[in-house]
Amino acid sequence: MRRWWKWAVYIGGMSVFAGSASFTVYCAWKVYMYHQPEEKPAIADRKKAYHFVLVPEELDNDYWRLVEKGAKAAAKEMGVRLEYIGPRQANIEEHVKILEKAAASKVDGIMTQGLTEQQFTPIINRIVEKNIPVITIDTDAPTSRRTAYIGTDNYYAGFIAGRALVEDTGGNANVAIITGSFEASHQQLRVKGFQDAAKHEKGIHIIAIEESDITRVQAAEKAYKILKEHPEVNAFYGTSALDAIGIAKVIEQFHRERETYVIGFDTLPETIHYLEKGTIEATVVQEPYEMGYRAVKMMVDIIEGNHVPSINNTETRVIRKQDLPLRPARNYEVRHD
Ligand code: BGC
Repeated sequence: MRRWWKWAVYIGGMSVFAGSASFTVYCAWKVYMYHQPEEKPAIADRKKAYHFVLVPEELDNDYWRLVEKGAKAAAKEMGVRLEYIGPRQANIEEHVKILEKAAASKVDGIMTQGLTEQQFTPIINRIVEKNIPVITIDTDAPTSRRTAYIGTDNYYAGFIAGRALVEDTGGNANVAIITGSFEASHQQLRVKGFQDAAKHEKGIHIIAIEESDITRVQAAEKAYKILKEHPEVNAFYGTSALDAIGIAKVIEQFHRERETYVIGFDTLPETIHYLEKGTIEATVVQEPYEMGYRAVKMMVDIIEGNHVPSINNTETRVIRKQDLPLRPARNYEVRHD
């Protein structure tokens, strides 16, 4: 009996000891793990599931192809799946429908323009309500619930275009404006900035303003029409990437005998060609590649809870023939070409 009791005490003691020992080891392990940085999977593994959609104003537009190129480079780096889908020809209704479809297919992030407040703010808000973050690119929708904007400050870009024209023409010109679209807010801002920059100049007269539907063909048609209706016009301002190219074609074909000043937007190869020849005097530089590249990186940051500023303006400036050759568009392009 006594012996049995001794064994019982012994076994009991041993289990209490083993229990507290394992509890101590468990606690020590917990404390150790608490101080260890959380292990994160490799970048490619972490991002592989992300699926982003980039919706441009016009699928095959050379300017948007540069945005796509930048976005693809960043997507490749981050292991993100990027889809580039948009209207074949600029068309707001179709653009909005494509956004609706992208939202219905439950993607992780959408990048697009905010072309008009009336049509784009509601669709952007509906997408955000589905917990899909939206970044506006190239054209902002400031009253929408988009998380961030990346692109040119379009009013400022129009303003510097206006100052350049004033400077280059000595403050004397009869100007015609050809704008991509009367409805699109970035085009309106580029016109407004230009008008404000010239409004105190007594020798600058804005004679006509026409719309090109962002095509070079319509820009050319409108330039031709303006020159016929207003022969006093001796300066043109084109506010979207293909406008000055269309204007330059008309100037070269039908208007060679008169000095006509042309200032445009962007640095597509055709624009640079006309700048070299002197048919276009100046152009406003934008950074479409950088917009696409940074938009993808920003979207990953947004999803992962990192802070992203709401307005991210890319660089813009006016260049003339003497500024050529153009330096490559940021280091990104050099690295990923
Ligand atoms: C604008 C784009 C537009 C393109 C049209 C660019 O200057 O920033 O929004 O789609 O021109 O060619």
